[in-house]
Amino acid sequence: MRILQWAFVGLLSLATADSNLTHESRNILPSNFKPQQHFRNVNLVRNINLEKNYVRETVNVVIENVDKAAQQEYFLPFEPGSIANVGGLEVRDKKEPEKGGFVAEIAATDAQSPTEFYKIILPAPLEPKAQLTLSITYWTLASLQPLPAQIGQTEKQYVLYAFSAYAPAAYDTQKQKTKLKLPTTDVPDSVTLPKSLNAEGKEDPQKQGTSFTYGPYSDIPAGSIQEASVRYEFTKPLTHSKLLERDVEVSHWGGNVAFEERHWITNRAATLKNHFSRVAYQQAAYYNPPMAALKELRFPLTVGSADAYFIDDIGNVSTSRFRTNLREANLELKPRYPVFGGWNYSFKVGWNGKLDGYVRHLKGESEAYVLKVPFLDGPKQIEGVEYERVVTRVILPEGAANVRFETSVPLISNTTSLHRTFMDTLGRTTLELTAINVVDELRDRELIVTYDYPFSAQFTKPLTIFAGLMAVFVVSWVIGNLDVSIGGKKAA
Ligand SMILES: *[C@@H]1O[C@H](CO)[C@@H](O)[C@H](O)[C@H]1NC(C)=O
Ligand SMILES: *[C@@H]1O[C@H](CO)[C@@H](O)[C@H](O)[C@H]1NC(C)=O
Ligand SMILES: *[C@@H]1O[C@H](CO)[C@@H](O)[C@H](O)[C@H]1NC(C)=O
Ligand SMILES: *[C@@H]1O[C@H](CO)[C@@H](O)[C@H](O)[C@H]1NC(C)=O
Repeated sequence: MRILQWAFVGLLSLATADSNLTHESRNILPSNFKPQQHFRNVNLVRNINLEKNYVRETVNVVIENVDKAAQQEYFLPFEPGSIANVGGLEVRDKKEPEKGGFVAEIAATDAQSPTEFYKIILPAPLEPKAQLTLSITYWTLASLQPLPAQIGQTEKQYVLYAFSAYAPAAYDTQKQKTKLKLPTTDVPDSVTLPKSLNAEGKEDPQKQGTSFTYGPYSDIPAGSIQEASVRYEFTKPLTHSKLLERDVEVSHWGGNVAFEERHWITNRAATLKNHFSRVAYQQAAYYNPPMAALKELRFPLTVGSADAYFIDDIGNVSTSRFRTNLREANLELKPRYPVFGGWNYSFKVGWNGKLDGYVRHLKGESEAYVLKVPFLDGPKQIEGVEYERVVTRVILPEGAANVRFETSVPLISNTTSLHRTFMDTLGRTTLELTAINVVDELRDRELIVTYDYPFSAQFTKPLTIFAGLMAVFVVSWVIGNLDVSIGGKKAA
């Protein structure tokens, strides 16, 4: 039997002596490890992109069935506690990416097991000895830690990213390497691994500008972890949205689609060492140095958007610009105060769009309509924005029925319900979609909602209002004609 538990503690050296980076080696697979050793990773290349404030990983791996029977389920392990921050996991056949993503789901593991897995279902069972190249992509939220955790208002920020130099794998891996793409060459600390681990006996990592390559490594047993980390300059906000509630309200009668987004943002950046100084902040505004505070949010909206508003907990915020013309609709918001590390900011923004820009009558089906909107608008920042939870509600007109939807954004739940507001008789059909661990890269993904809106229902609203007005008229007429004078009928 293979010995899974092994360690290298003590063998390792650091790039700089004063850094406190750890680099222990261990095995993350529990003793009651479930996935059967049906596969072998023949060759694995992992790319970790650190250019944004969330981490994007791409793993290209040639897998081989080493079992006697055809196999269809491939497991991908995550370190204890980390799977909760993973989002947008997609798996494709590297050689035929156009064929679409494979089914990948979080595998139910028993409570005892600290390691969690994604179970990837191959589109067809892989025959014994056959190989397949998987391309696995995902991002992880909240994985950069400011170090030091406190800085001065105009100081540079450094963040620590801890990872395993061996790609976490549920199977033995013959050959592998991990490449990091850093945002800068200012990297004061990085774990240096002993040359003896490197399959080519080279310096580990190999550094080339903003690219660091750990490995290659040969014959790494399943579950092996080789801790490593890098600390690099990232003087940008770590914008983290705890919750985004987005409403898309369709009104056929008004010829309008109203959008509203309610944001609860926190900046995960290093906190301020001293009290905030507005004087220093205003002085800095002249030379505009990089800063870890969030000063501006940019929302590129659909062309033709109008009537934008920006309201925070205190009220209307006037420090915003809405530039619209035939080619663009850009909403540029300045929060009421710069949002430094550890600070929160919540606000709502809204705007209107013309119905015919988003809703189309389905040809051939007299009562069917298609709504096509971005899954989320939200700010688009160079450094990125990550969302813990996005709840999108599509509020359809009264009488809309048979609601179906489609989106390539992975969802954790969807519900259709009735939502009643003033002057509604039936209530409006509301579709609510929840996604977790989303990043601003998904801004361009679409949400397509199809629904039936019977001709008769289209008159419900005007008829309700008409009936309401009639009722008021009748009531006032009746009241006006009532004889309420004291003493009954006047004597003639
Ligand atoms: C590293 O550890 C030493 C003590 O072990 C501590 O004084 C120092 O502040 C630490 N440095 C960082 C950057 O955490
Ligand atoms: C909010 O500010 C905008 C201009 O920025 C103004 O047009 C609008 O009337 C204001 N709304 C309220 C409720 O004060
Ligand atoms: C920000 O919000 C979190 C809860 O979401 C809270 O724990 C924290 O104290 C808030 N920070 C500030 C500075 O108010
Ligand atoms: C919507 O949720 C149901 C379970 O409530 C699920 O079966 C269905 O696949 C979901 N639809 C989509 C498109 O995600």
